[in-house]
Order: sequence, then C-alpha cells, then structure tokens
Amino acid sequence: MIPTNIAFSTQVQADQTVQPANYQNDPIFKDLKEKLLQRKAHVGVIGLGYVGLPLSMAFADGSYQVSGFDLSGPKVDSINKGISYIQDVPTDQLAKHVNGGKFSAYFEFTKLKECDVVVICVPTPLSKTKDPDISYILSALAKIETHFRKGQIIILESTTYPGTTREVLLPKLEEAGLIRTGSRFQCGKDFFLAFSPERVDPGNPKFNVYNTPKVVGGLTPACSDLASLFYAQVLQKVMKVSSPESAEMVKLLENTFRSVNIGLVNEVAIMCEKLHIDCWEVIEAASSKPFGFMPFYPGPGLGGHCIPIDPSYLSWKLRSLNYTARFIELANTVNTAMPAFCVDKVMMALNNDEKSLKGSKILVMGVAYKKDIDDMRESPSLDIIHLLKERGANVEYYDPYVPEFEENGARMKSVKWADDLSSRYDLVVIATDHANIAYDQLLKHSRRIVDTRNALKAFKDQRITKI
Ligand SMILES: NC(=O)c1ccc[n+]([C@@H]2O[C@H](COP(=O)([O-])OP(=O)(O)OC[C@H]3O[C@@H](n4cnc5c(N)ncnc54)[C@H](O)[C@@H]3O)[C@@H](O)[C@H]2O)c1
Repeated sequence: MIPTNIAFSTQVQADQTVQPANYQNDPIFKDLKEKLLQRKAHVGVIGLGYVGLPLSMAFADGSYQVSGFDLSGPKVDSINKGISYIQDVPTDQLAKHVNGGKFSAYFEFTKLKECDVVVICVPTPLSKTKDPDISYILSALAKIETHFRKGQIIILESTTYPGTTREVLLPKLEEAGLIRTGSRFQCGKDFFLAFSPERVDPGNPKFNVYNTPKVVGGLTPACSDLASLFYAQVLQKVMKVSSPESAEMVKLLENTFRSVNIGLVNEVAIMCEKLHIDCWEVIEAASSKPFGFMPFYPGPGLGGHCIPIDPSYLSWKLRSLNYTARFIELANTVNTAMPAFCVDKVMMALNNDEKSLKGSKILVMGVAYKKDIDDMRESPSLDIIHLLKERGANVEYYDPYVPEFEENGARMKSVKWADDLSSRYDLVVIATDHANIAYDQLLKHSRRIVDTRNALKAFKDQRITKI
C-alpha cells in the first residue's frame, strides 16, 4: 500500500531503470520496508549543518534511532551536550533526543554500518574558479564505501548538478560492494540509491522540514519506493519523480528561478533610478495583479548557501555540453554588481552633505544574508563592507544575530545597540532588514541612510536614499 502522502509525477514509471516487476517481493526490499514502517530503521545523517540537523530531529521526533556524523569536533561535542547551534533547532528539542538516547553525533564513522538509511547533507560550494566543488560529497561517500553493506538506502540531499547521483555515486557504491564482498552489488536489489533535494528555508516561520513537500528520484522503482517511504514516515508530503536527474534538476530550477527573477528586479531598480521612479512603489502596485505576477525585490546582492551558488552548478554542467545558460550568466552579472551599485548610492548620498566616502564613518546595519537569521554565508554585506573600506571609509557594523565575524583575516565585532547609535556616523547603510531593529530610533538619530531593503518603508524623509 502506498501511503497517502506520496504523490507521483506523471512520468514516474516510464523513465526509471527497468527492474523486475516483482521487486516488492525481494527479501531485502521487504525487510527494509518493514523496518521503515515499524520505525525500526536506523537512520544515519552525514553533515549536521543547516540541513542535516533539522532532518535528524525530524526522524528522532518520529521515533527513529538517528546517528549523525560530522567532521567538525565542536559541532559533535555541542550536539552530544544537547546544545543546538542551528537557529531552527531548539536546544530543548535536541537535548530531549540526546538525553533520551534517540540521537547521537559521531566524529568517526564506524556506526555507519548499523545504519539502514544514510542521508548525505554535506556542503556543495563552488571552487575558486566558480566550478562545482563536490569534494565533500566524495569524502562522505568514501566513508560510506568503507562501511557499505547490502540492505542500505543511500540518499543524497546536497544540491548538485544533474547526473551526480548516477555518474558519481552509483559506480562507487557498486564498486564498494565488489571490494567488500567479492561480488558487485546491484542497485535496486542489494542497495538503494536516490536523490532528494533539501528545500529548507532557514528562519521561515511557516515552512519547515515537516511541511515543505519532499521531492524524491530513485535510480530504480525500488529505490524510489523505499526512499519515498522513508520520508513519508515523518514528512507531510512526498513527491516522486522519474529519476535522480529530475530531482537534481528540480532544486536547480527552483533556485535558478529565484536568481533570475532577483536579477530582473535588480535591473528594474537600476532602470527606475535612471528614470527617477520609485521601484518599490512599482513592485507593490504590480503585485496587486491577482494573476501572472509574482513580486521579487531588489537588494544589495545575493547571499546564502544556495541562490548565489546553485545556478552555477547548472551552467557548469551545460558548459560541458557546449551550451551557455544565458539567463543564469546574465542574472549572475547583474546580481554580483549590486554591492557596487549600493556603494555608489552611499557616495551620492554623502555628496549631499559635501562629504567624501574616504574618511567618512559608516555604519552597516546587518551582516546576515537575510533578515532574522544568523547565517552570513555569501552575504552581500561583506562585499559592501569590503568596497567601503577599500574606498577609505571607516566602517563598523551592527547585527543582533552576528556578534562578530572574520573575513579574509580581518575580525569585526558588532557595535552595541543604543537608540542614538546612528548619531555617531555620517551615514547608515541598511544591508539586512532584521525585524527587531528600532527603525524609528535609527532614523531619528541618522544624518543619512541608504536603505537597500525598503526597511524604512513606513517613513518619508529626505535623509533616506532607497535603492
Ligand atoms: N542551508 C540551506 O538553506 C540549504 C537549503 C537547501 C539545500 N542546501 C544544500 O544542502 C547541503 C548542505 O548545506 P548546509 O547549509 O546544511 O551546510 P552546512 O555547512 O551548514 O553543514 C554541512 C555540514 O557538513 C559537514 N561536513 C562536511 N564534509 C563532511 C564529511 N565528509 N563528513 C561529515 N560531515 C561533513 C560540515 O562540517 C558541516 O557541519 C548543501 O549542498 C546545500 O547547498 C542548503
């Protein structure tokens, strides 16, 4: 019986690798299915960051035994003391599962051999040359290979280019079976392999790991069945697609969609500036159309682990097929120019006071890449700070979520909040629009403000420059 929270794409059976129709009767398949349904399957999660830790909690909440693996000693120690370092995972929830014996974290990987399901949630950054860096996936895979056995379900969640699961993971796992037992393991029979993109949106109060539908694409129908069944035990909705490539592409489409639309609206902001039109008013009015329009907002540039990076995985793959992903390249060009656009705004705003950027005291409000979170990976605030300093400004920052940070060897500490904080600066740049800022006080004491997020929407004041 298919659980009611698993949906199928229309393609589902057509494209999958051909597999005997009676695979449901294979003893390994039946055993795993039973373990999943009885919540006796042991779940392993490799990479305990923004994605892996909430996922571990979801399965521990669902009464599964969960073992987490991470190369970071401090993270493993923190988990085993029951202390969360991820904003979306309350310490109470983590402590309950650690103390109750449902969840443990490990720095080394021998426990992997006990795991029936292993989910890979390691980083997939870009290299210095902006090419995909799948070295973390390869290193996690090497650990799995060492402890690989028949009857394991391996699921990759790290965002990657279409083809990774089939071209990189599959041959290595088949080979590992051969090395460990002398006979090649058959995917869909001896072990099961799938890709399922993570769609978590850190800090989102409405959508979390439980209620964001999970897309799953297995190498074979048996792989899809078991991987879907696994997620369906604890998540509200699972959607099967016909292949891991489709599932890999789903994630890249979602984030490319965002990157391209943000690129478009950033260019609209630049055009509006030239036309002396308030782009925020235009977007708000366009949003009143009840169909065919979805608002995106301009800003200081892209940030976070996904949107600035994932589309480049797709364009890299297409380059290898002699095709240029033009929308991706164009959106990248527009979006990466936004910090410099904001710094131009700062210079123009200072001109009104007959001040040069060189020597001016600037306060950057917010270094997290988006509001109400503490994650500053790829944050455009860092580019803005860098550009301001490069042009001779004296820069400080305030961020209630990021007390200090180090970038390129330079350590910065957040200044302390005071209602009259902004009076100490020639200009304030709002780079992140955290909700818990007293914007009325900030404005009251400011000489000039460049607002890159429309955080001061409620105020009309000549000292405010919007992008
Ligand atoms: N953060 C998000 O909002 C988000 C959303 C959707 C998808 N993703 C994708 O999910 C993946 C993970 O992202 P994240 O934000 O959780 O990253 P993260 O950096 O927060 O966590 C990854 C963890 O993996 C660990 N790690 C690295 N190599 C390892 C290895 N070989 N073995 C064990 N642990 C290892 C790191 O120490 C780290 O703790 C990435 O591919 C990312 O693109 C992230």
